[in-house]
Amino acid sequence: MEIVSGKYVISSATYKQCPPAEGPEYAFIGRSNVGKSSLINMITNQHNLAKTSGTPGKTQLINHFEIISKNKKKWYLVDLPGYGYATVSQKARRNWGNMIESYIRLRENLVCLFVLIDSRHSPQAIDLEFINQLGEWQIPFVLVFTKADKNKPGATDRNVKSFLAALSENWEEPPPNFVTSAVKKNGRKELLDYIGSLNSSFTKL
Ligand code: GTP
Ligand code: MG
Repeated sequence: MEIVSGKYVISSATYKQCPPAEGPEYAFIGRSNVGKSSLINMITNQHNLAKTSGTPGKTQLINHFEIISKNKKKWYLVDLPGYGYATVSQKARRNWGNMIESYIRLRENLVCLFVLIDSRHSPQAIDLEFINQLGEWQIPFVLVFTKADKNKPGATDRNVKSFLAALSENWEEPPPNFVTSAVKKNGRKELLDYIGSLNSSFTKL
């Protein structure tokens, strides 16, 4: 699938403020600083569409981007605030939890959640817990391993394998997974083709 345009729509502080649910929507979530906003820019081929930062906690709201693909289909990418940002207060953490839970459980046109995992690390409890929660809520998701360009040869594969092995304690089947680099643009085609196939089976609300 090819994208012809991507534009910012709106930032919402709560699920209720989100724009009307119409075309298929895909949201990016994961630990703060894992590369969610960078991946949206990489996919859309636009440097500054989503705001990125070297400091964790940059994205604080639910950000909607409207994408038009070559076949004239309109769909949405959503940049979400990350979890696991260390210096956050209890109250802010609760707010994040409420915002995210309502959005991912209630958003009618959310087709699939992309859970980003830093490919440089061994399995982290915070990611595994978040994914197990998705299972309880029965939210469809895939895994996207990020920042592969930062790894020495072999390390990405090793970390992906051990993450999937850790998941297998709770999951019978591994979820679909992708390896990406926003810097080298690796994994772009695979992600777009996957979204394209989900777009084709999306039925109007
Ligand atoms: P929050 O909005 O704070 O939750 O972070 P985020 O997940 O949106 O991360 P963001 O895209 O802002 O990226 C965080 C940092 O990682 C930035 O300095 C990016 O340049 C860097 N980064 C993101 N993706 C990649 C990648 O694939 N390779 C490399 N080398 N750096 C990356
Ligand atoms: Mg961000």
